[in-house]
Amino acid sequence: MSKGPGVQKMFDGIAPNYDRMNRVMTMGQDQRWRRFVVDKAGNPGQGWVLDLATGTGDIASLTGRSYARANVIGADFSLNMLQEAQKRFQEQSIAWQASDANHLPYNDNSFESVTFGYLLRNVDDSLQVLKEVCRVLKPGGRVVCLDTTPPEKNILYPFIRFYFRFGIPFLGRLIASDEAAYAYLTGSTMDFHSAKDLARIFTEAGFVEVDYKKFMMGTIAVHWGKKE
Ligand SMILES: C[S@@+](CC[C@H](N)C(=O)[O-])C[C@H]1O[C@@H](n2cnc3c(N)ncnc32)[C@H](O)[C@@H]1O
Repeated sequence: MSKGPGVQKMFDGIAPNYDRMNRVMTMGQDQRWRRFVVDKAGNPGQGWVLDLATGTGDIASLTGRSYARANVIGADFSLNMLQEAQKRFQEQSIAWQASDANHLPYNDNSFESVTFGYLLRNVDDSLQVLKEVCRVLKPGGRVVCLDTTPPEKNILYPFIRFYFRFGIPFLGRLIASDEAAYAYLTGSTMDFHSAKDLARIFTEAGFVEVDYKKFMMGTIAVHWGKKE
């Protein structure tokens, strides 16, 4: 069965508490990683930029503020998340659009860059989504992806595992009144591709100059690449 409908319902449910939970869970680090994403995507000039799985809109908003001449679209399939984004960033001229990452409603070769935060863990087939992203990028356009990544088995592993297994679901219950949604975050992180494997999938999808950087004791990865 496809993950889509369950994921959509889950994000519709946690939308009002999503930002607060993010700040607490990441100990205030999350905006720093989004800033890195926007810097890696580069200045699109007056071109179009797509922030896919935009959620409550942070990456789209940072893009708009960093590159004032850019045309920014924030797209997501959760209407409640999009509503939060719209409320938060009313003063910015961002186009908020409902769309599913598996079948993007955009023409080939449309965007200077496509960013997404915490999308790929939630889809059935990362390769299919990355091919779709490659299709809508202009030649030379950049993709930048932020997501959690399974921690490596080093000396910190037991502590990280404890935090993921118990700390995050506990915070989810306390702050978002939804332990299950945050237990899902833990499960989907542990089951996700390693950063190295994900880089390989970016290459398979047609991207070149693929690389990545890890943050937060190796639990967060930003991947990037370019359409030839
Ligand atoms: C964890 S939130 C991340 C939001 C935002 N990018 C951020 O940095 O906080 C993941 C978002 O991905 C969206 N999403 C998941 N699967 C999707 C899909 N197939 N198409 C579009 N959006 C999707 C969810 O609705 C949710 O808003």
